[in-house]
Amino acid sequence: MTSKANVVFNVLLVFVTIVLGNVLKLRFRPINNEITRSLRYQRDSLLNFTESRELYGYSSEEHNVLTEDGYILTIFRINGRNCAHKLKRTPVLLMHGFLQSSDTWLDAGPKAGLAYLISDACFDLWVGNDRGNYYSRRHNRLDPDKDPKFWKFSVDEIGFYDIPATLEYILKYTKEDKLNYIGYSQGAGTFFVMCSERPGYCAKANVFIGLAPATRLTNTKSVPFKILIEGLGHLEEDLATIGIYELFAKGSLSQEFLSLLCKFSATSELLCGTGVSLVDSFHQGSITNETLRVLFDHFPAGTSVHNIARYGQSIRSSHFQKFDYGSAQNFNIYGTKQPPHYNLSAVTVPSVVLYGNNDNLVDTKDILWLIKRLPNMLEIKRVSDPLWNHFDSAYSQFTKDLIFPTINKYLLKYSRK
Ligand SMILES: *[C@@H]1O[C@H](CO)[C@@H](O)[C@H](O)[C@H]1NC(C)=O
Ligand SMILES: *[C@@H]1O[C@H](CO)[C@@H](O)[C@H](O)[C@H]1NC(C)=O
Ligand SMILES: *[C@@H]1O[C@H](CO)[C@@H](O)[C@H](O)[C@H]1NC(C)=O
Repeated sequence: MTSKANVVFNVLLVFVTIVLGNVLKLRFRPINNEITRSLRYQRDSLLNFTESRELYGYSSEEHNVLTEDGYILTIFRINGRNCAHKLKRTPVLLMHGFLQSSDTWLDAGPKAGLAYLISDACFDLWVGNDRGNYYSRRHNRLDPDKDPKFWKFSVDEIGFYDIPATLEYILKYTKEDKLNYIGYSQGAGTFFVMCSERPGYCAKANVFIGLAPATRLTNTKSVPFKILIEGLGHLEEDLATIGIYELFAKGSLSQEFLSLLCKFSATSELLCGTGVSLVDSFHQGSITNETLRVLFDHFPAGTSVHNIARYGQSIRSSHFQKFDYGSAQNFNIYGTKQPPHYNLSAVTVPSVVLYGNNDNLVDTKDILWLIKRLPNMLEIKRVSDPLWNHFDSAYSQFTKDLIFPTINKYLLKYSRK
């Protein structure tokens, strides 16, 4: 981008985000549930995790996890159908990606949503939620609507605090020593942060299964993603001066608008489908229209501007490293001018990585860069469909045939009966 275009773009962004921010501040829900119901809203999309599950005859439990730094995370445990006496003891933790929530794993419905497939295979499935999304927008001291400090987090803190706390909670509750971990995109990157910074926790996983794992994003091809994330990331300080620390929250105007738009008609289905393809890549027919109508009620699920800034850095950097505050502040915080790299050699847990050749967000080059650094690879699986992209792992109607068999194989291998 030329610098002039850059300025125009930034001004536009500030404008949009001011509007967004005001809307966020008011916790404005422009469209209430009654109206949306009559506007052909899919039933699923209005339900929370527990309610969606019940709709299809599954049962689930809600649990609250308190992190060492005071965040309160909602996590869910799901019981598959017909598993009463067949439930395997080793718990499985499934973590969502950037701007998502646990609901992601239900959006593709009972035939393809990974939460359904894994729990129906009678694994003791738990699904987590990172700080800042609509299930984890709580803290024991800080008010997310009033205290900017609540929003001073990125994948660095999610990996350091949220993943260990969630893991610890599940192991304590189930009285097991170890669990099996599945991380999608950011949910994989944050696991690596934990292994690097808190190796004791890494050893609490029997096996790590990474779906399109996100570490550095040096080769990301998606132009819309790069423009949006880098643009917003550069504006962290400007946004702070006008009181904006949180972006893309559920219930914000942008999210409600997407949610409604993607439900209206065949034309809007086409529009939303094309939108998803432009951000990621084209994979005609992989995500059904029904899934598209549901998923935008749960996506984006909200995060901090600081986390978005961190993503901007991971696009610009060729390392998987901590937040870059600039050399002076880096020196104060880290004792070095450059932010320290995460130690991927510390990911000693047996690892499986599944990725798609058509992923424009986490590019194959960055996946291969990562794999070379993971010391204990069990299997590297490129999904056989050459058009498999980033969103497919979460939302494709073909997960059952294309990725679930590998997941199932390793969960079985590493589970106690
Ligand atoms: C989900 O909905 C149920 C039923 O309305 C409610 O009891 C539960 O607290 C909700 N859970 C969350 C996390 O919002
Ligand atoms: C989704 O809807 C659009 C517009 O009605 C249609 O062209 C397309 O074939 C549908 N896709 C699928 C996978 O059903
Ligand atoms: C990285 O982790 C490995 C394995 O735990 C360890 O041997 C090595 O010393 C660590 N490297 C650094 C720079 O901390």
